[in-house]
Amino acid sequence: MEQEQIIREVTLDLEKVSNSNELGEVRNKYLSKKGLISGLMVKMKDLPVEEKITFGKTVNELKEKVTNLIESKRAEIEEKELSAKLESERIDITMPGDDFARGSKHPISIINDEITQVFLGMGYTVKEGPEVEEDLYNFEMLNLPKDHPARDMQDTFYIDETRLLRTHTSPVQARTMLSLNGKGPVKIICPGKVYRKDDDDATHSHQFNQIEGLVVDKNVTMSDLKGTLELFAKKMFGNDRKVKFRSSYFPFTEPSVEVDVSCGKCGGKGCPMCKGTGWIEVLGAGMVHPNVLRMSGFDPEVYQGFAFGLGIDRVALLRYGIDDIRLLYSNDLRFLSQFGKEN
Ligand code: PHE
Repeated sequence: MEQEQIIREVTLDLEKVSNSNELGEVRNKYLSKKGLISGLMVKMKDLPVEEKITFGKTVNELKEKVTNLIESKRAEIEEKELSAKLESERIDITMPGDDFARGSKHPISIINDEITQVFLGMGYTVKEGPEVEEDLYNFEMLNLPKDHPARDMQDTFYIDETRLLRTHTSPVQARTMLSLNGKGPVKIICPGKVYRKDDDDATHSHQFNQIEGLVVDKNVTMSDLKGTLELFAKKMFGNDRKVKFRSSYFPFTEPSVEVDVSCGKCGGKGCPMCKGTGWIEVLGAGMVHPNVLRMSGFDPEVYQGFAFGLGIDRVALLRYGIDDIRLLYSNDLRFLSQFGKEN
């Protein structure tokens, strides 16, 4: 029997094989049902019994050898194909990645979050209210009846007789106090958008942001107001800044004050930023007017309170040295992307 020759032939065939398909063909040629080795098995039927045993043994050995040869070729090809695949799909992890635009916090949000954090730290909670507000809460319940001259201080966008775009966040005071049925304490801040009929220019915007604060409790005095706002001003602007309380007027507080912080640019000497005065106004505040407490259901004989309001936009302008408020509303990425990357 030509065993040696078949092995040689298989070896030669395998040498020409370079991929799995070709290997499959060689396998079929020798090992399939119609293959050469099966053909030998068929032949065995016609052999005399004595020869059958040795012939069968030889064919089985041959089959095993051929199978081994083919399988070891298969391992070789698979390895080759795998490394070719890996090579073609290779990823260079040292290549720089695709650049993508990363958003950043708006300067108003940064300052708003910062102010909120300061007051949360002092035990305040955050309350919000509607931007489309009733005249009742925006004015009347804050001691500003219909014919009050101080209404002119806040040029108002009216929607109809009774509704308007809120001109300050103070209406949230009235709403919160009313919801408490005359029982303190109250300790809230109310951040939000407010609107005034101003012509937009470098220092005015018809829409801006305020944070209102309100504390109502028994035995609240002006020193609580002063202590709170002094602490706040130092936390926001720095310990080295001086704080000054100037008497002022708001219909909803009595007495009323405005709070100035020494100018950070000139250190109080006077410069264009502080218009030569050395001071920058940052807050309006005062002791809640007894009329306001009464109208919201609190007994002014039992409860006192203080309130304050500050412009978030203004603080942002001061903090970042921005000289035009309109930049905050222009949605210009060249401007906005300079802020808040660290958040
Ligand atoms: N609501 C006032 C304003 O917008 C600010 C303020 C709030 C003043 C609370 C005193 C007390 O001008």
